Amino acid sequence: MNSKNVIVVKDLLLSYKKGVPIIRDTSFTVKSGSFVFITGPSGSGKSTLLKSFYGELKPQAGFLQIGGVSLNDIKPAKLAFLRKYLGIIFQDYKLIKEWTVKKNVMLPLLIAGYSKEVCEAQTKKLLKHVRLTGKEDYYPLELSGGEQQRVAMARALAHNPVIILADEPTGNLDEYSSRVIWSLLESANEQLGTTIVVVTHSIPTNLKVPFKHHYIEDGRVYEIA
Ligand SMILES: Nc1ncnc2c1ncn2[C@@H]1O[C@H](COP(=O)(O)OP(=O)(O)O)[C@@H](O)[C@H]1O
Ligand SMILES: [Mg+2]
Repeated sequence: MNSKNVIVVKDLLLSYKKGVPIIRDTSFTVKSGSFVFITGPSGSGKSTLLKSFYGELKPQAGFLQIGGVSLNDIKPAKLAFLRKYLGIIFQDYKLIKEWTVKKNVMLPLLIAGYSKEVCEAQTKKLLKHVRLTGKEDYYPLELSGGEQQRVAMARALAHNPVIILADEPTGNLDEYSSRVIWSLLESANEQLGTTIVVVTHSIPTNLKVPFKHHYIEDGRVYEIA
């Protein structure tokens, strides 16, 4: 996973129903270590495009490659392999309600085969990063939306992903939690060189890292900055 272009999109066609394209005639690349915002009107296909990046929706035509892996005809085993390099964050958090905060963050690490000691230490460090020390044994529904998103952020960062894909991660959040999320995304990008792709309604104004801006309109993706 060290290709210069971590995402390569060429003549991409995405659709849910034949003859109804959501994304079409779209080509662009995302360089390793870059920070990319994707904006566009509601219903323009932002979530659809992101879905294709994590293998939830296959291209109908064209070419899509993430970290050198083609997503066009990807097999489940290869997709599971690819997902190890991805950290994904959703607007509605997608935490497991029946699990505590600690388990939500730690279980993926245990599954990935790290020792219990390493998982415990890593989870503790991550929960400190997202300012949730002391809430380890809470369940998601006992937390505010902002706190839940910070758990999701800790989970996404847990396995040191090469690419973070975030779909309106601060869409529903209070200002404090938004600030924590943006600053963690910034420091992952700046300090670890993590490639960040974020779908958002509004680009934060006080970002310290350089970024690119792609805009979706009428099914096409335009690079505007
Ligand atoms: N699972 C689905 N099945 C059929 N159509 C869908 C599905 N998900 C999204 N769409 C359609 O695709 C279009 C783009 O949706 P989406 O990517 O969610 O937009 P955005 O995230 O930009 O608001 C919309 O017209 C939506 O109705
Ligand atoms: Mg969306």
